[in-house]
Amino acid sequence: MTSSSIWGGRFGGGPADIMEEINASIGFDRRLAAQDIAASAAHCRMLAACNIISEDDARSILGGLDRIEEEIARGDFEFKRSLEDIHMNVESRLADLIGEAAGRLHTARSRNDQVATDFKLWVREALGRLDDGLRRFQAVLIDRAETHAADVLPGFTHLQAAQPVSLGHHLLAYVEMLGRDRSRVRDARARLNECPLGAAALAGTSFPIDRAATAAALGFDRAAANSLDAVSDRDFALDYLATASITAVHLSRLAEEMVIWASAQFAFVRLPDGFSTGSSIMPQKRNPDAAELVRAKAGRVIGHLNTLLIVMKGLPLAYSKDMQEDKEPVFEAADTLDLCLAAMTGMMAEVAFDTERMRAACRLGFLTATDLADWLVRARGLPFRRAHHVTGALVKLAEARGGGLEDLSLDDLRSVEPEIGEDAFSVLGLDASLASRTSFGGTAPDNVRAACIEARARFLTPEAPP
Ligand code: ARG
Repeated sequence: MTSSSIWGGRFGGGPADIMEEINASIGFDRRLAAQDIAASAAHCRMLAACNIISEDDARSILGGLDRIEEEIARGDFEFKRSLEDIHMNVESRLADLIGEAAGRLHTARSRNDQVATDFKLWVREALGRLDDGLRRFQAVLIDRAETHAADVLPGFTHLQAAQPVSLGHHLLAYVEMLGRDRSRVRDARARLNECPLGAAALAGTSFPIDRAATAAALGFDRAAANSLDAVSDRDFALDYLATASITAVHLSRLAEEMVIWASAQFAFVRLPDGFSTGSSIMPQKRNPDAAELVRAKAGRVIGHLNTLLIVMKGLPLAYSKDMQEDKEPVFEAADTLDLCLAAMTGMMAEVAFDTERMRAACRLGFLTATDLADWLVRARGLPFRRAHHVTGALVKLAEARGGGLEDLSLDDLRSVEPEIGEDAFSVLGLDASLASRTSFGGTAPDNVRAACIEARARFLTPEAPP
């Protein structure tokens, strides 16, 4: 059997070979097999319940679908390009297995509502997988943040050393990003969860179907309200790709930090052996390949979002074959993102932080200059602008001496600002600086420890939003 033997009533001959090649989607939409069978079973039960097909026919259709599912699971289902897509491959096999009754399954539906339904079911599962992966990654990062709440490293702006921050605080920044990614996943899932099945080709059907029943059977919240919209929008796939793109961007930023931190110049981390590679020529090398690839693969995911936006742009209602091009970008983006997420989770679970090295790096860059300026405001009542100016002059002096602010003598400090006393030194230390940042969301170690507990409650408990 070929696809033209299914739809070929008005055709004299089969498709040209090259037509078959450009037209067929079975090479990739076979990944929708389980969803296609589930949607067909729900449709079949509804048709019987509405007396549109007989109970006998429904029983044999359901039995046939079960067998097809087993054949696919066992790997002995023959996917045929001549049958174009997954829908016709399944239907044709059903006809082999149960004969004429198979032809009743396609009553009151079309491949247009069928493919939209199958694909939504697939994307819904991908969103669930993404949420699980993000949650696992958050759990790893929170654990590591708690351990390193009081370990200090230079915080950067413009990649210039700025102020001391807690390593735990730095890691928790990513936990927040991933938390928003998960809220995008939730939003996307809520918007997606309307069932297209029964919209038929584009206009609905004259059969007395029960769309609410198929929607409920497939775990949708309701039936999609407009048949034209139901078969022809792919914004649920765009939502997935947009969400995936933002997550991929977040992962790429952490990956980039691992690349920088693993360099000999920084040496803030030693990446686990399992996530590093050697060089074929330079024996000393430990390359951060996994992190580099995560950094790069964000490009792919964003590219897939672009692909589908461009496919959809300007398409008239309702279904057009262009929409068959929706699947590969989503499948490939999902595979890529799942892989990146697993790699980053594994890497961050095992990466060794060189906290001594991080602390030593804080000696460069006058990281506590802001603390001194703040102290002049707090303890001596200077206007902040003047305190800023005074501290700038002291940094210049320290730089000329080749040391840090804490290496200046009291006389040095007084030569610039006579108001300064011995007590100024108390704010120049790293730990004092860190501990002083107690404002809400600030980097003080006590804040960070509390933030870990709060983040677990917000993101990881069963009560946390799914
Ligand atoms: N393989 C098609 C797709 O992926 C299924 C829908 C085809 N519908 C049609 N009227 N040709 O979009």
